[in-house]
Amino acid sequence: MAKKFYITTPIYYPSASPHLGHAYCTTMCDVIARGKRMRGFETFFLTGTDEHGEKIQKNAAAKGITPQQFVDEVVVRFKDLWKAMYISNDDFIRTTDKRHVDTVQKIFSTMLEKGDIYLSSYSGWYCVHEESYWTETQVGPEHICPECGRPVELKDEPAYFYHCGQHVDALLDYYDKNPSFITPESRKNEMVNTFIKPGLSDLCVSRTSFDWGIQVVEDPKHVVYVWLDALTNYITALGYLQEDDSRFQNFWQDPECEIVHVIGADITRFHTIYWPMFLESLGLRKPNRVFVHGLLMMKDGKMSKSKGNTISAYPLIERYGVDAVRYYMVSEVPFGSDGVFTPEQFVMRINQDLANNVGNLLNRTVSMIQKYFDGTIPEDHGDLCEIDAELRSLCDKTVVAYETLNDDLRVTEAYEKVMDLVSRANKYIEESAPWALAKDPEKKAQLESVMCHLAHVLYVAGMLLKPIFVTKSDKIFDQLGVPAELRCYEKVREFGLLGGLKVCKGDQLFPRLDAEAEIKAIAEMMAAPKEKAAA
Ligand code: MSP
Repeated sequence: MAKKFYITTPIYYPSASPHLGHAYCTTMCDVIARGKRMRGFETFFLTGTDEHGEKIQKNAAAKGITPQQFVDEVVVRFKDLWKAMYISNDDFIRTTDKRHVDTVQKIFSTMLEKGDIYLSSYSGWYCVHEESYWTETQVGPEHICPECGRPVELKDEPAYFYHCGQHVDALLDYYDKNPSFITPESRKNEMVNTFIKPGLSDLCVSRTSFDWGIQVVEDPKHVVYVWLDALTNYITALGYLQEDDSRFQNFWQDPECEIVHVIGADITRFHTIYWPMFLESLGLRKPNRVFVHGLLMMKDGKMSKSKGNTISAYPLIERYGVDAVRYYMVSEVPFGSDGVFTPEQFVMRINQDLANNVGNLLNRTVSMIQKYFDGTIPEDHGDLCEIDAELRSLCDKTVVAYETLNDDLRVTEAYEKVMDLVSRANKYIEESAPWALAKDPEKKAQLESVMCHLAHVLYVAGMLLKPIFVTKSDKIFDQLGVPAELRCYEKVREFGLLGGLKVCKGDQLFPRLDAEAEIKAIAEMMAAPKEKAAA
């Protein structure tokens, strides 16, 4: 039976258009999901939007439209971007979907009945932008939101609370028994030391000060406060407590299914403390992993609309192609660490890794096979010398490392291994000097062996890069003349499959960029929103 894998992105706030930071997180999840699917895992990949809350209500009011109209407009922009980025999500959950609303109401009722939720009143410093209450210490004497730096306001209102106390021991026990639950581990220590050890406050789960939310059936002047609404998307999207709950049974309820939530650091507390507690209340299993990725930033800090330092993915995709943008994200920001977007690095990645390394290997290999063998890839003769053997063994080792690293979500490292293999093959060309072998008829077998090895490396690299290269892997296969039945992952370990195929030279896979001109062009894309705002 196929192994199962369920991966989610955070559901994004559709308060403004998506920027490269949102695209980063979704692309990383897509690369992981495509990789698992390709390797035969039964995979479900979810993304969506988190549409309720005071901020959306205010944004809509400012535009003179209803919150529903507002989110309907912005959600289209998210969906369009995912199409342009070739995101292969299996579903898109909106928290305004009826399936979600109905289920959240049932979940709230269950928790209320069990006594996990109780009515009280809340008074605290509230940041509208972050939709969070903060303590006196956190806002300091200036009464500033510790997260976004905006002024906070003192609020008092009747509210329902989620009672955390009874679940703390089970939570700590879960952390102990599942050391990779929170990755990187530093995040776990932060959760334990900053939030759990000092004593966890109960979580406010309803609001009465605005009405753009899911109504509490038992007390209709309350709407469900945003984190109970938001986090449960991961199960409502699968059909939890709905008529057709087959996906929920198939993925969430199967203990063998690996469940991974990928999130940004800002929402770690909600995913690693409250979410497991909510699941405990509902008698459901917890996810295997919450992977906290880093931020893609600009030179002057975090991308944000208000700073006007965001960059859209569209002009990059239009100019350099979707594969290059996806590759940039995976390679430039080590998954789990922060990264800074700069035009210089973007151009450097395309030129060094894609044009000079992968593109060049393909170009040289196909040209040589045409020149020396009339375009037919030679059969495998085994390894005729030490460097042949070394290259063949590196192909095998790369596949093994690629799988292990990907399974451990060390995604950037996994793809680095593939690039290392390609670099090694370029070096192998220099070492084996096919142009010299071609001059000596006695070295024909050796020349054949070199071409066979090179074609195989390209085949392996094309296959392993497929989760990133949503269009270019097929271009690699086209140039190698690989038929459809060989374009499947199961064959990646079989050496010498390409003997007898006819290569077919195509366009340059990634044309080399004029660095100076392109750096300038990207800098203009980055400047555009600021100028618009100024105008
Ligand atoms: N709606 C909540 C999440 C609820 S999940 C149950 C939320 N939304 S958000 O729109 O603010 O987006 C959050 C996620 O977007 C972050 O956790 C992160 O994964 C991603 N990113 C937003 N800006 C980003 C960067 N600049 N860089 C990388 N990822 C970024 O919080």
